[in-house]
Amino acid sequence: MVADEMNEVNEAILNRMESPVALIPQLAGHLIASGGKRLRPMLTLASARMLGYEGKRHINLAACVEFIHTATLLHDDVVDESELRRGRKTANVIWGNQPSVLVGDFLFSRSFELMVEDGSLKVLKILSRASSIIAEGEVLQLTTANDTSTTEEVYLEVIAAKTAALFAAACEISGVVAEQGEKVETALSTYGKYLGIAFQIVDDVLDYSAKQATLGKTVGDDFREGKITLPIILAFHRGDDEERAFWNRTMADLNQQDGDLDHALDLLNKHTALEDTIERAKHYGAMAKDALGTFPNNPAKQVLCDIVDFCISRAY
Ligand code: IPE
Ligand code: IPE
Ligand code: MG
Ligand code: MG
Repeated sequence: MVADEMNEVNEAILNRMESPVALIPQLAGHLIASGGKRLRPMLTLASARMLGYEGKRHINLAACVEFIHTATLLHDDVVDESELRRGRKTANVIWGNQPSVLVGDFLFSRSFELMVEDGSLKVLKILSRASSIIAEGEVLQLTTANDTSTTEEVYLEVIAAKTAALFAAACEISGVVAEQGEKVETALSTYGKYLGIAFQIVDDVLDYSAKQATLGKTVGDDFREGKITLPIILAFHRGDDEERAFWNRTMADLNQQDGDLDHALDLLNKHTALEDTIERAKHYGAMAKDALGTFPNNPAKQVLCDIVDFCISRAY
């Protein structure tokens, strides 16, 4: 439905990553050309379509949203020491941490140039707020790493910030450019927030259950890193003393041996932790759809609902 507009967004992305400093388009282009789902700009486009917006501002703003996302991926892969992204070696593996961080800064700054060009202080407020919340989420996550006593509540706080804030902003800004009032903006933001939470919950399941070739990221990274995600929180709470000792040795002390990831998977299975985590995601997905309840039915609204289903059932 939004394929033509998405082509324009991709064009804007390619134009705006240009720089006379060759390493910038080289490194950014490596990540950008390897695809990605373009989910967040799609949310901006589909939201604008649902509201019947007929202008052009949403194109550059969708590119701006993807720039923020791309910057966070470059930074996140340095922080997580990840080696695979979108099926290719990460920029930090190819060029090292320093260029990755700095090109991330460049893309992030470019996103602000795009916001300023758009000229709406309200859009600037929404996207700049989302950016600081993402950073807060990533920092908060650092403080929960290797802490097996992390609660589901704190986990939700982390993912609402690091992931859902940008989903929410991507949708909300379409409400702003379509000029349909506060209620519409809030409803879109709520939809994006719950969708983002569901999306990250599923992402955290996929880190244990996916096929690496399909996911394009290294499966088992979260375990090796000691990142405490919802499947682990559930299994830890449901486990006996011996199982908790296992989680503490592997994820808190990072004292891991061959076979530990397999044993972790056995324990997740034993406690149906992955299935029950997906149930949580479905719950947030349903809340996302409910947030669209007051909008009249149209094909773009149906697309936004289909995106929820895609995010719940995705394998990549
Ligand atoms: C990856 O997001 C970061 C998370 C929030 C899990 P995506 O899975 O949307 O990444 P791409 O853009 O499709 O590669
Ligand atoms: C991604 O978190 C959130 C941001 C990029 C801000 P993850 O670390 O879980 O995402 P992946 O698994 O690396 O894509
Ligand atoms: Mg990561
Ligand atoms: Mg992950």
